[in-house]
Amino acid sequence: MPLAQRTQSGRYYIGKVEKVLNNPSFQQLRGQVNLILTSPPFPLNSKKSYGNMLGDEYLEWFTCLAPLFAEMLADDGSIVIELGNSWEPSRPVQSLLPLQSLLNFVSHKEANLRLIQEFVCYNPSRLPSPARWVTVKRIRAVDSYTRLWWIAKSDEPKADNFKVLRPYSDRMKYLISTGRYNAGKRPSEHKIGETSFLKDCGGSIAHNLFELEDMDAQRKVRLPNIYNAFSFSNSNSNDFFSRTCKKKGITPHPARMPMGLAAFFIEFLTEPSDLVLDPFAGSNTTGYAAARLNRRWLAIDAEEKYVEQSRIRFKDPALKQTI
Ligand SMILES: C[S@@+](CC[C@H](N)C(=O)[O-])C[C@H]1O[C@@H](n2cnc3c(N)ncnc32)[C@H](O)[C@@H]1O
Repeated sequence: MPLAQRTQSGRYYIGKVEKVLNNPSFQQLRGQVNLILTSPPFPLNSKKSYGNMLGDEYLEWFTCLAPLFAEMLADDGSIVIELGNSWEPSRPVQSLLPLQSLLNFVSHKEANLRLIQEFVCYNPSRLPSPARWVTVKRIRAVDSYTRLWWIAKSDEPKADNFKVLRPYSDRMKYLISTGRYNAGKRPSEHKIGETSFLKDCGGSIAHNLFELEDMDAQRKVRLPNIYNAFSFSNSNSNDFFSRTCKKKGITPHPARMPMGLAAFFIEFLTEPSDLVLDPFAGSNTTGYAAARLNRRWLAIDAEEKYVEQSRIRFKDPALKQTI
């Protein structure tokens, strides 16, 4: 099993995940992975440069990964899988494949998994797609989000939402500072106590919706504080990774996970020294975020060409300032 990169905090292997995870040296790590965080090749209806399968072939392959992932996981570990939408070939109809893939994965009889929570990652700057129906015929809206499915082996996987607080809104800051608000029952039937909102907890609780950039200048995005240390969206072409890829004439991986997204789940669901695995690592966004947050990491990808991008990430001077 070719080991392509080794750092103090992790290792990057080349090979198909279904083979690598069955290798004896990986089998030794059974039950030790605290988080599997990954964006697999999406079920697309036309082939992209990073090797997607189509239709039923995809469904069967993806479903078989469930027991493999589950056996690597610690009992209180989590799996977070990012899946985008896909569309039926030549039809303005959304494909059921991503949902079927998720359902088959979670309900695989040998895996004993359950869905913990769904997250939506909304990208207001997403280019209009599917172009034929959105920009040419103008009969569909822009497909502008991906979903992240948080899955686990137990109902209470390790998690702490105190670690991923968002800044308070100006209204909430005012309320805390003045100590005045209307207690009582809301139309939604929620009962707000006399003191419920008076304690300063350092920030508000994260939502299961990420908005990658401001929708408009009047409305501030309040992403969890962890994003202050990581650029959240991939549109920043001036970071160390993008600059170095450009200098070396390397095209950055076309489907990188937003760094802030990786950082959010690592901080939320693991502790320092925990082990984070990305079985579809590509440029190794997950491994880099894990290292910066003092976690150990393992990466796997079928394509050797992406390892160079992981090496570039690990030359980033920001890595010396781990958080
Ligand atoms: C969506 S990309 C992941 C990108 C990554 N999250 C990043 O931030 O750079 C999916 C990756 O899965 C890899 N891949 C496809 N089939 C695979 C397989 N059977 N085993 C391992 N990797 C595979 C592709 O080479 C591709 O790099």
